[in-house]
Amino acid sequence: MSFIASRLIHWHHDYGRHHLPWQQNRDPYAVWLSEIMLQQTQVNTVIPYYTRFMQTFPTIASLTQAPLDEVLALWSGLGYYSRARNLHLAAQKIVQNYHGQFPATRADIQQLPGIGRSTAAAIAVFAFGRREAILDGNVKRIFARFFGISGYPGEIKTQNRLWEKAEESLPIDCCNGVIEIYTQALMDLGATVCTRHTPRCESCPLQSQCVAFQEQRIDQFPGSKPRKALPQKETVFLLLLQQQKLLLQKRAASGIWGALWCPPEIAIDVDAADYCQHQLGIQVEKPFELPSLDHQFTHFKLRIHPRLLHVVSDSHITETESIWINPVDALEHGIPAPVRKLLKQNFLPDNLTMIAQVKNYG
Ligand code: ADE
Repeated sequence: MSFIASRLIHWHHDYGRHHLPWQQNRDPYAVWLSEIMLQQTQVNTVIPYYTRFMQTFPTIASLTQAPLDEVLALWSGLGYYSRARNLHLAAQKIVQNYHGQFPATRADIQQLPGIGRSTAAAIAVFAFGRREAILDGNVKRIFARFFGISGYPGEIKTQNRLWEKAEESLPIDCCNGVIEIYTQALMDLGATVCTRHTPRCESCPLQSQCVAFQEQRIDQFPGSKPRKALPQKETVFLLLLQQQKLLLQKRAASGIWGALWCPPEIAIDVDAADYCQHQLGIQVEKPFELPSLDHQFTHFKLRIHPRLLHVVSDSHITETESIWINPVDALEHGIPAPVRKLLKQNFLPDNLTMIAQVKNYG
């Protein structure tokens, strides 16, 4: 038997979970329901839902006869409702294609709606004692750490390596409930010891041969999702300066920086002085370009080009809610981080005036 299998089976005897409601029978319908409910949901949350569901719909036949609304009502609060819809649909298929008898091989189970390879394997193990490997999120983490498989498990290459290890680690002889115990042990170890955060390595039966533990790199497995290069956008902020005060406008409630105060913003190809005159009713001197600054959002990077503009005459059109404000006072208002950064740099009025005079007009 593999090191993993023998250690896990011994460990499960003393430390595994033995009294979960769905462990009490091998009825494929009960096993199936529990495995679907346990996808993305923790055991303690599932238990009352599972119990109520089994009381209301104790058989596949009773489930097929129920309207979907009733099934969804029983699922209410558990989330991921496509699970309930697929369960209902799969029940109809079992009646149509298998005369109401739950299919008994992993390959057939996997053909049913809402059942992937790992869930099909878990059902095949617990309901039929089949020798099949599971690989849900928790189990991926165990194998990634134990075998030191770096790489993001969402990538097909890493996933294939993990499946190979999952297959190789199965106990050879699976009679007398060995495969059930082994599979449950993997699930229990993932849920209680080899957890995502602060795993309890001191209590782990696999510790002595765990690559991640030996190399003290537990937090590096499984590998995280590679970051995509974010698209870069460019924009221009107009720093209109009049008697040491800047013009700020309140942005629309929706969109980025909703309802926060910002300098007027224009696209990079728009003429700043022209915009001020025609859109804001403000005449300005020649614009002066200040150093750009970068800001990162979750989905893109923004390069902001601030342009300093001294106001010559102001017959300001006030369509947008706006204020003339000293930059220091502006910091007391709701202002987005990059504008705050801009105001705190050396762009305060004295500096602005000085820079402008030296570089532009001096
Ligand atoms: N997670 C998924 N299937 C499970 C099961 N049968 N027991 C405990 N946790 C699980």
